[in-house]
Amino acid sequence: MQENFSLKPFNTFGVEAKAKYFVEVNTVEELIETLKRSNSKTLPLLFLGGGSNILFTKDFDGLAIQLNLKGISEEFLNENQVLVTAKAGENWHEFVMFCLNKNYGGLENLSLIPGNVGTSPMQNIGAYGTEIKDHFVSCKVLNLQTLEVETFDLAKCRFGYRDSIFKQEGKNQYVILEVSFKLTTQNHTIKTEYGAIQSELENLDITNPTIQDVSKAVINIRQSKLPDPKKIGNAGSFFKNPTIPLAQFEDLKLKFENIQGYPNGNFVKVPTGWLIEQCGWKGKQIGNVASHQLQSLVIINATGNASGKEIFDFSALIIDSVKEKFGIELEREVNIL
Ligand code: EPU
Repeated sequence: MQENFSLKPFNTFGVEAKAKYFVEVNTVEELIETLKRSNSKTLPLLFLGGGSNILFTKDFDGLAIQLNLKGISEEFLNENQVLVTAKAGENWHEFVMFCLNKNYGGLENLSLIPGNVGTSPMQNIGAYGTEIKDHFVSCKVLNLQTLEVETFDLAKCRFGYRDSIFKQEGKNQYVILEVSFKLTTQNHTIKTEYGAIQSELENLDITNPTIQDVSKAVINIRQSKLPDPKKIGNAGSFFKNPTIPLAQFEDLKLKFENIQGYPNGNFVKVPTGWLIEQCGWKGKQIGNVASHQLQSLVIINATGNASGKEIFDFSALIIDSVKEKFGIELEREVNIL
């Protein structure tokens, strides 16, 4: 266990924050042992995965635990389906690449999402028409009260848009240890209808795409507009896309005829990137922080020297502008600590 440990390498924003205590665990047994010895009933705990969805605005006065659980296993269910289980500390994109190398289909639209497998259920990661809930079977979790391992199936996880039980009632009560997905081994379902995938495949001259081609297209699209956290600190989308009542959307449409929206029953999901851009924030920098010039929904540590507080304050200015112009209250997607 280390004291006053810098968390800068453990968050993709690359901001400085110190954990009072820090420990890395490699097995479930080590994790349980650490929790038993650390007085975890009174000491605040923080479980670190890939650090790709967290903003530290201050030092953490507790025990930060880096979950380094590794390993992937496969179980063939029938001639067309395989159950693939990955431990929490596996890097998400490397896991997707492992599946594609074996020609297991289902997760290809989720290529290049930063973070680890263990945090993927927390916010039901999603992109380009797929969310993990579409292929999720179950996850094993450690109950922090009882220190027993439990299994959560799809229904128990209560997945929603960027949401799950782990962000709601189950918050801070469980540690995800491993996640199992049901994937196809042949006759894959190819999803190309979302956004720019189809046109990117055309650019690549591909008419009959494989799952590997879809992955390539997704990687190209992401690389063309999302900043690489290894080069510029960021945590992907900083806000969620809000869902507003249809009537409110129609009112807004009278005033802002170009407003975009994806209807869903009596509600409409509005792209936050568009709202932020309309408020003049796209590419704008204040001090060390900016809204990304190609995707305004992403806030970046532009100079590499931003503090978490500066990034948080910048996000508050964006929330105020969008509220004033459109009457919509943006919700942060990134966890603030
Ligand atoms: N748009 C603008 N200006 C901008 C950015 C976007 O007008 O600065 C418009 C685009 O023109 C487009 C619409 O907003 O018509 C939607 O943009 P995009 O397809 O880039 O998707 P998004 O809604 O902004 C969501 C996810 C992303 C995910 C993409 C692709 C959320 C909060 N974000 O972004 O997820 O990669 O769809 O599926 O749902 C993440 O969660 O970190 C993330 C990157």
